[in-house]
Amino acid sequence: MTKTLLRALAGETLPTPPIWMMRQAGRYLPEYKATRAEAGDFLSLCYNPDLAAEVTLQPIRRYGFDAAILFADILLLPQALGADLWFVTGEGPRLSTITSDADFDKLGRGEMIHDTLSPVYETVKILRKTLPEEVTLIGFAGAPWTVATYMIAGRGTPDQGPAHALKAENRALFEKIIDRLTEGTIDYLTEQVKAGAEVVKIFDSWAGSLKGDDFDRYALEPARIITQELKSRFPGLPVIAFPRQAGDKYIGFHAATGADCVAIDDSVTPEWAAEHVQPGGCVQGNLANTHLVTGGDALVEETQRVVRAFSKGPHIFNLGHGITPDADPENVQIMIDAVRAVRSA
Ligand code: CP3
Repeated sequence: MTKTLLRALAGETLPTPPIWMMRQAGRYLPEYKATRAEAGDFLSLCYNPDLAAEVTLQPIRRYGFDAAILFADILLLPQALGADLWFVTGEGPRLSTITSDADFDKLGRGEMIHDTLSPVYETVKILRKTLPEEVTLIGFAGAPWTVATYMIAGRGTPDQGPAHALKAENRALFEKIIDRLTEGTIDYLTEQVKAGAEVVKIFDSWAGSLKGDDFDRYALEPARIITQELKSRFPGLPVIAFPRQAGDKYIGFHAATGADCVAIDDSVTPEWAAEHVQPGGCVQGNLANTHLVTGGDALVEETQRVVRAFSKGPHIFNLGHGITPDADPENVQIMIDAVRAVRSA
């Protein structure tokens, strides 16, 4: 009896889609806030294997999701490469910036990243030992472009302006950053898989701001290289790609990268994605996360709309983006019940 998430990733159309939720371990849960307080701050939580495993397990215990995602962050890799990283409460991440060759030359490469990241691999090992046997463990990393936008600007930016500016002004340096992150991501995910991750997901949250050839060169091509290299190291390893807000560029993304599953955000309708993207393989998504704040009939109706739209092919139910801190934990249970009610109705 293979796990449902792995069956969907292998291309099977299931009567009820497996379910998990981006940011399922997070601040909407009181038990997360308690463990985070115990750890001190967010980064201390990420680097504490026992507590990081604990918060990963909390939503599994509460809701019985079909998958657990390793608790960590996409910005741990730049930190492991030598960037300074800290989080400002209520604002978000801050990093030392990279705007010149001299900044780039301070970054490390290769095996040195594991000095910083080894607690993350330890978290993966603990999780593989403690997760219920029907639950799939997902490892992850940020995609090079999305991580580069934070490294170049030193923080999150609404339009990724500084990264686009560096790309225009010094393309050689920009491409060195993308290449270094591509290499580091492969090394990082390799160790996660060796430690026990059964699936890996590549988060390209800002892919949608890359247009035309830039999308192909800096979103699609790194995803292809990472996917192909991991699959050559670990034959059969399922890969989920999330080129968020890719729009028309979602079409053909499975075939162009070799990803087994493409995660879809909620800027496209599930009917459009079912018609244009799902023929390429398994899709994941795409309920708008705002429904978990507002609830009510719309939550149930939109949840079931997503399930029905994707019911003719392989599908993993998820949100279009991570659950927000103001979501009501009871709405998550209502969403899960609505997903599981569809086919039995
Ligand atoms: O999904 C999960 O539950 C797994 C863990 C996970 C986190 N971040 C934990 C986290 C994953 C997969 C991420 C990915 C991530 N991190 C992305 C890509 C996905 C996306 O949401 O677009 C990005 C862009 C980041 C960078 C990042 N980390 C930002 C911008 C922030 C601050 C914004 C915020 O929500 O506060 C974080 C912090 C962060 N990462 C939190 C969590 C649970 C909140 C930290 C806290 O407890 O205060």
